[in-house]
Amino acid sequence: MSDKIFRFLAEQRPDTPCLVVDLDIVAEKFRTLEGLLPKIDIYYAVKANPAPEILSLLAGLGAGFDAASIQEIRTAIAAGGSPSRISYGNTIKKRSEIAAAYELGVRLFAFDSQAELEKIAEAAPGSKVYCRIWVSESGADWPLTRKFGCAFDMACDLLRQAGGLGVDPYGVMFHVGSQQTKPEQWETAIAIAKRMFERLRADGVSLKMLNLGGGLPAHYRVEIPPIETHTQTIQESLARHFSDEMPELMIEPGRCLVAEAGILQSEIVLIAKKAKQDEVRWVYLDIGKFGGLAETMDEAIEYPLRTPHDGGPEGPVILAGPTCDGVDILYEKAAYLLPLDLAIGDRIEIFSTGAYTTTYATVGFNGLPPLKAYYV
Ligand SMILES: Cc1ncc(COP(=O)(O)O)c(C=O)c1O
Repeated sequence: MSDKIFRFLAEQRPDTPCLVVDLDIVAEKFRTLEGLLPKIDIYYAVKANPAPEILSLLAGLGAGFDAASIQEIRTAIAAGGSPSRISYGNTIKKRSEIAAAYELGVRLFAFDSQAELEKIAEAAPGSKVYCRIWVSESGADWPLTRKFGCAFDMACDLLRQAGGLGVDPYGVMFHVGSQQTKPEQWETAIAIAKRMFERLRADGVSLKMLNLGGGLPAHYRVEIPPIETHTQTIQESLARHFSDEMPELMIEPGRCLVAEAGILQSEIVLIAKKAKQDEVRWVYLDIGKFGGLAETMDEAIEYPLRTPHDGGPEGPVILAGPTCDGVDILYEKAAYLLPLDLAIGDRIEIFSTGAYTTTYATVGFNGLPPLKAYYV
């Protein structure tokens, strides 16, 4: 909850839908995470919210950046990020984009396939490379699936080849899936990474870095273990598996640093029933899947809501967006209840919307403008 955001909304009465992000909360989240993981270098995952206000704040606090594209790299550098603290973390890059990043001074690249390793070796000679491996994403509300990473044996083969191709086989990376709700998943993934360090050492390749990826969760509608439970598991697993020699450590949080700093305000456009006997009301907002709430796909992320009538009697609703696309339904199975007094024109707040919203908004579908965002 942010007084600053509520004051801004009350005083400015901006048009809806709009997102307001409290930068003090972002700074506080970063400092808290630094305190919880003191030996781990934090590289903010730019994709979660690439607003220059957030990037310059985090650069000033000492964060590095995990960038998914050459555009994100440019944005991070323009906001004060140093190329020496940028990781080009996408495993799918054009050769020209790798070359452009190298030209800008980036020297840390991710790969998960033979062809990508060869591209990096050609376009960014001498760079440090790390291989993304498959780990279980069970427990993640927003899994990243098998699209990224590769099998253990393939990762070992590729890292063994890297030196011969002229790049430095620097480390291993995993991602336990975004909005990971099971802290024990870190233990499993760290154990696999340790086995890889050992296997490669036996083959004469000494890895130096472990990248723990993203996955630290934010608070939404469903209660989950606090972030401290995750960071404690991470610390204990690292101590257990790397007791002989701790590698350089990095982590790429996105969601957990910015989601809770954002509140989205939306107006109710229509409330309707589809048949006389229906109990459930359809509540149509001025924002939906195409306006920035794409993470409601399969009702994966359930945002908490606040209305001006909270506390009064409630009834079941189906929440939907304003566009004329049938998939633009936010929640049907998630069984949201909203006050019976809710009326057309009411403004409601959608919490924890600072991550993966502004950049997920459509470019003009149904004439929708990009989601307006304010950083206060
Ligand atoms: C490579 C990489 N790192 C970090 C992140 C950030 O993940 P999260 O927002 O769950 O912390 C992502 C998210 O997609 C990613 O793809």
